[in-house]
Amino acid sequence: MSFQEPIHDVAQLASVELFTPEFEESLWFFHDVLGMTATEDDGKSCYLRAFEDPYHHSLKLTRAPHAGIGIIGWRASSPQALDRRVAAIDASDNPGKWVENNTGYGRAYEFSTPSGQKQHLFWDVDYFKPTEEQKSKLLSRAQKRPLRGIPVRRIDHVNLLCKDVTRDSDFMMEKLGFRKRENVVLGGDELASWLSVSALVHEVAFTKDNAGPGNRLHHLAFWFGNSGQMLDLADITRDYGLKLEAGPGKHGVSQGYFMYIIEPGGNRIELFGDVGYLIFDPDWKTRTWDESNFMDGGAVWFGGDLPQDFFVYGTPIVEAAMEENAASEAEPAE
Ligand SMILES: [Fe+2]
Repeated sequence: MSFQEPIHDVAQLASVELFTPEFEESLWFFHDVLGMTATEDDGKSCYLRAFEDPYHHSLKLTRAPHAGIGIIGWRASSPQALDRRVAAIDASDNPGKWVENNTGYGRAYEFSTPSGQKQHLFWDVDYFKPTEEQKSKLLSRAQKRPLRGIPVRRIDHVNLLCKDVTRDSDFMMEKLGFRKRENVVLGGDELASWLSVSALVHEVAFTKDNAGPGNRLHHLAFWFGNSGQMLDLADITRDYGLKLEAGPGKHGVSQGYFMYIIEPGGNRIELFGDVGYLIFDPDWKTRTWDESNFMDGGAVWFGGDLPQDFFVYGTPIVEAAMEENAASEAEPAE
């Protein structure tokens, strides 16, 4: 019996860059509402982290003309693991390059998914250094829990819109060691996949971009670890005029408690209440949802249906697709 030897060379999702055309309002959302801590602002980008994120930043918020996603940062499992992954990608028909002078982490290998989503893989990182005032008595906590908003504990996952879910998933599995935990196949077409390098169900997901050119953000997720906090945040979104797109509810896929908010810059942010389920089985087989069950428990286990926009909207925004979607929703049902 042949068994594919697993690759354990990528350790975790470390950071994601978001573009925002409404910088001050977006910063207010992440700093004041989600309680994140700003560590640096170089005039172009502000760097923030959740209170249990260990490094310099987990979110790079960049001033830009349009909303969208920039570079995704992954930490390798060791310096040797980084070299192994670089060799694997260099040997492919889509090689990357080394980039220096990064903020918050050292030398990084820059590469792209086949769809063109830019990513960095690195080992050297700058750890967050709390001030005396920020130090927690909990030795495992990077800083005290902030007294702002409903503070998130860590970055969780990123969901990307792409033109070819299978091609991008295969790249992440073959070159970086991700495992496909769940996917959705409708009409023989793979429309979504959830992949991880850890016991989590996903650190990255790919969703087919039916409304745009791909290389767009569907959502970036932060984790509370306590689904009850989502009710507090839902209450705040109403009072402060934020767009609560869906939830709180529970997905069938990943079993995660979810809530989706459109931050003021336009990017969709998911708040993840708990960890869903964890996977320790080394021989886990991809769970495939299809026509018979995806809309009957896969997309939403409980908590109300996802709006049609959820399947169309991403950043950068494709205005034509949103207008078409709004027109179709306005048509009387036959
Ligand atoms: Fe998600």
